Amino acid sequence: MAEAPYHDRDGTIWLNGVFVPWREAKIHVLTHALHYASLVFEGERAYDGAIFRSREHSERLHKSARLMGFEIPYGVDELERVKAETLEKSGLSSAYVRAFAWRGSEKMGVSAKDNRINVSVACWHWGDYFPDKMKGIRLMMAPWARPAPHTAPCEAKAAGLYMICTLSKHAAENCGFQDALMLDWRGQVAEATGANIFFVRDGVIHTPYPDCFLNGLTRQTVIELARRRGIEVVERAIWPNELANFTEVWLTGSAAEITPVSEIAGMTYKPGAMTEMLMADFSAHVRRKNVA
Ligand SMILES: Cc1ncc(COP(=O)(O)O)c(C=O)c1O
Repeated sequence: MAEAPYHDRDGTIWLNGVFVPWREAKIHVLTHALHYASLVFEGERAYDGAIFRSREHSERLHKSARLMGFEIPYGVDELERVKAETLEKSGLSSAYVRAFAWRGSEKMGVSAKDNRINVSVACWHWGDYFPDKMKGIRLMMAPWARPAPHTAPCEAKAAGLYMICTLSKHAAENCGFQDALMLDWRGQVAEATGANIFFVRDGVIHTPYPDCFLNGLTRQTVIELARRRGIEVVERAIWPNELANFTEVWLTGSAAEITPVSEIAGMTYKPGAMTEMLMADFSAHVRRKNVA
């Protein structure tokens, strides 16, 4: 059965300081963020009633806003309280949490320094980001590259940076793939359209150094879990001509969690022992309450 569209659901959304019925959480069509992408957001998951790395997500939301030139009018402690309350009101113990902030509709045009900063938190059930993920997903090479650090504030989780992700993901889906592998402005392997990427060769994990894309919190957790197991993790520049040398590949992200990859543009991989071990470690780790 098709899922109900987001505007046609029931529940409660926190919007600018108050909880409103889901269907009434609306904005005007002449909102700056809608026209000029002046929105920052977080995607988070709650497991067994606790949001995983919640505080770091709230801190990253503040950092993203600052990189976009605005301050969120609710502090991290306040956001923490609101997110927990939104989760509680949803009645869900495992859920996806979206916190976001954007420039409002006071002024149209590129400059919008004095527009109101709006803030909202919503939470809903969101199962696996990739259906059938245990089979491993297939990636196409993206037709778009991650921008250079002097082209866009690439450390921000900002709406504007997702335009090339949607274009790349659609291009992949149109060719029967589930996602796209994006290179960066130098031609090095960067990440997928909404998740970081890891590779295995000879028992060693390799992952691109995050100097022009999001250093995901899931990425950081997986690196730590692997090192706790005594596995060597190398963060370095990875070039596309190395892709054929790896045996296992997976993606990491709050939505994607750990998703095995079975193919990148004709090169095939087997979700193997390393992927399975880290998926099990990750699953156990996120379900311990209040883990860092
Ligand atoms: C483009 C992009 N890269 C990486 C990530 C992974 O970040 P995190 O693990 O903090 O969710 C995400 C997911 O939010 C993303 O959208």
